[in-house]
Formats: sequence, C-alpha cells, structure tokens
Amino acid sequence: MAEVIIVPSEQEAGRLVGDAIADLITDRPDAVLGLATGSTPLAVYRHLSDRVRRDGVDVSRVRGFALDEYVGLPAGHPESYRRVIEREVVEPVGFDPARIQVPHGDLEGIETAGERYEAAIREAGGIDLQILGIGRTGHIGFNEPGSSLASSTRVKTLTEETRADNARFFDSPEEVPMHCITQGIGTILRARHLVLLAFGAAKAEAVAAAVEGPVSTSAPGSAVQLHPHVTVVVDEAAAASLSQAPYYRHAWANKPAWQGI
Ligand code: PGA
Repeated sequence: MAEVIIVPSEQEAGRLVGDAIADLITDRPDAVLGLATGSTPLAVYRHLSDRVRRDGVDVSRVRGFALDEYVGLPAGHPESYRRVIEREVVEPVGFDPARIQVPHGDLEGIETAGERYEAAIREAGGIDLQILGIGRTGHIGFNEPGSSLASSTRVKTLTEETRADNARFFDSPEEVPMHCITQGIGTILRARHLVLLAFGAAKAEAVAAAVEGPVSTSAPGSAVQLHPHVTVVVDEAAAASLSQAPYYRHAWANKPAWQGI
C-alpha cells in the first residue's frame, strides 16, 4: 500500500519531500526527477532551493522531466509549463536548463511528441523520483478520468473542470488550452518512487479515491496503488476522507528512521 504521511502544513510537506530529494541528489548526483507544475509542489521546490543553497548540494548533473504541457500555446507564453518549470524550479534550485525536458506542446510535430518524450525518458534510464499533484477530477499529470492505466505520453483533451481550475493562471477562462500532452499513467508507474502531494479540503475526495478506492480508470490517481513505492503527503484537510487515517499516523509515528520515505 501507499505510505500516507499526514502533515500539519504545506511547509512541513515541503521540508519532508525537499529533504528526500536533496538526499537523493547527494547520493546520486545525476538523479532523474519527474517534475510537477501547479500550486501543490511549490513548497517542495522552495525547500529544495534552500537546502541546495545552505548545504551546497551539487545539482549540476540532475536531469528532469516535466509531467505535462499545454498544446498550442505560443512559444515563451508565461503559463506554458516550460516557462513555469523554468521560473519555479530550474531557476530557483539552480538546475542546468539543458538537462530539464518538458513535453513539446507545439502544434508542429505534435503527432510524434509523445513517442519522442518516452524515448528521452528511457534514454535517461527512467525517472528516479516522480513528484505528483492530484486534480479535483482525480487526474495525475493531465490523465483525466478514463485514461488507460497503461497509457504513455500522448495528447489528451482537458476536462472543463480542469480548465476552470487552471483559469486562475490565465487572463480569461477561454484562454486555457483545450488540449495537453501528458506523461501517461503507464509512464508515471515506471518511475521508481512516486511522491503524491495534496493540500486542502477540495482534494479530500480525490485523495481518498486514489489511496483507498478501487483501482479504476475513473479515478486515475488510484493507479498509484499498483506501484511498489509510493509516498502520499497530505495536510489534515486533504486527509479528511481517509478511513485508515489512524493507522497511517500510527505507522508514520513508529517508522524506523533508517527507512526514509
Ligand atoms: P494544483 O494542481 O497543484 O494547482 O492544485 C494539481 C493538479 O491539477 O494536478
């Protein structure tokens, strides 16, 4: 089962996961990270940049793959995930931009962009640690309900709910692209460690379905139950619908320190 860690705040989640990533990079300087966008992982990136600065962690050889990208935004659009990843992760942490890839959402070549991305991940030796958020629809990456659990990187149509959730980043809701290119659920499951984060009451149902519900394409996050090494980090509000919360707290409180996350 997934390990579920219920933390008092996003800052605490950022510390826990940021430390785990800093330790991974220290052990393996050319580690391959799977990077998520959205509001959820920001505390992780903030803590990771603090650790890099404070402890002089060498991140110059780290490689990274973003989960997803919008299709059809003009190059350099501030809300393209390429720009978001540069602004929120690469620049503050100090990663080498040439080693961080984002799926190509340009219309030209879009037919083969998914296959090319899969090949690049394979050539890098696969993803060591994949950071994930979860949408209110239950999506991981942009794999909306109905996505095949075996899917690879490909173009998908966003749900209206996800477009509405992401409208806050654009001047108007109509500007949110209709299509995206996203790592598939199969791609995500090939990463060696999944770290799924969620905060706030709006995510409680999606978290419960992902962790405790039946494994189903209707709840794409539930695919994490098929993976042997998953860490779910949630605040109290996002944990509110978990029926096994007392056990998760007990297991975490008694976890042998040497195990890490
Ligand atoms: P959020 O998005 O982090 O902005 O809430 C998560 C997601 O949609 O996967």
